Amino acid sequence: MKPKWPPHRDRDAPTRRAALGLIGGALSLATGSSSAAPGSGLAAAAARAGLVFGVAADSEVLADPAYRALILNNCRLLAPSNSLKFAALQPEQGVFHFEQGDALVGFAERNGLLARGHALFWNDYPPAWLQNKSSAELATVFDAYLDRVVPHFAGRLHSWDVVNEPFWLGRDRPGTFRPGPWLRAFGEDYVERAFRRTAALDAQAKLVLNEAWTECASPVGLAVRASLLALVDRLQDRGVKIDAIGLQGHIMPSEPWDEESFAEFLHALSARKLDIYLTELDVVDDALQGGVAERDGAAADLTRRLLKLALDIPAVKMVVAWSLSDKYSWLRNPWFTSRKHLSHVARPCPFDENMQPKPMAEAIAGAFRGARG
Ligand code: G3I
Repeated sequence: MKPKWPPHRDRDAPTRRAALGLIGGALSLATGSSSAAPGSGLAAAAARAGLVFGVAADSEVLADPAYRALILNNCRLLAPSNSLKFAALQPEQGVFHFEQGDALVGFAERNGLLARGHALFWNDYPPAWLQNKSSAELATVFDAYLDRVVPHFAGRLHSWDVVNEPFWLGRDRPGTFRPGPWLRAFGEDYVERAFRRTAALDAQAKLVLNEAWTECASPVGLAVRASLLALVDRLQDRGVKIDAIGLQGHIMPSEPWDEESFAEFLHALSARKLDIYLTELDVVDDALQGGVAERDGAAADLTRRLLKLALDIPAVKMVVAWSLSDKYSWLRNPWFTSRKHLSHVARPCPFDENMQPKPMAEAIAGAFRGARG
């Protein structure tokens, strides 16, 4: 039987309906059901297990009514995937653009969704204007950025990824600090500085350190786990407020995976009195073999394994899909596909390009239903 993804009350509904010019039938087809009982979407299943389920998405939410409906039917939280990044908010020195970020956070607020900030500092993808700055100039930019951006969103965000991907993920020197402008400005202390200043400017948002690759038992994944634990220890020893660790969860079938050591790592984080969020769940499915059904089945199995293990740990409080629909996955974005030769069109998400549930959606729903019973 097909899983049901029931309608959710959408405060933007008149706009959506007007834009579609229909709808009942077409929308219910797009979301899988028109008659299912309210509250049986993914977010509701998550809530019954004490979890928040959300999505990372951007301008497509505002542009695509079918996608918007899918999100509202299934999500409790929206994390703009790009519009709250440094290069989006300050594309030129001293010129701030809050329009797109405000539109997305406003959409979340109007529709009863939580909103998540991603991400204040990431040493990757700095805007070009930062390139030739001295360390002293970068330090000034860093502080001024926080002073402008954090108060702008204060009180409106559930959480901020204060630092994204602090560690280097290359095979050459895994687990060392990722180079970039902020490391150049302050050395490793940029992390502490960012957390302290953000806490002083927004007392409400949960402050998150977000990292990639920790699900993998490869040398890179293991090195990043060790570096992350050491960084948390250092920050906590120095009395820095840090509320949660974000583990991205871009599942990589091509990398080794070891349930026992990953569970140990999650326990080690929760022993440090931190919440854990799975912040960027999808399956990097390029390495999967076979036809669509086979690959979708394998992606669902991997998702089920990861969630079963993670949801056993009470510190895990949130799961965020990095796009709900394949249509908007970063792995289908020309920005990515033009740089990498993929063997097939990526299908990394719980719903397909027509907003129909895939086995991965059922795997997520099943993991929520089976969790913490
Ligand atoms: O919006 C412009 C568009 O105007 C322009 O025509 C086009 C040309 O390439 O670029 C568009 O912007 C791109 C944007 O994605 C939206 O498509 C940027 O160049 C591109 O850099 C940006 O990539 C994002 C990437 O982070 C870098 O910021 C991806 O969408 C986003 O999914 C990805 O997300 C990261 C997380 O932040 C951290 N963890 C890994 C994750 C996946 O890489």
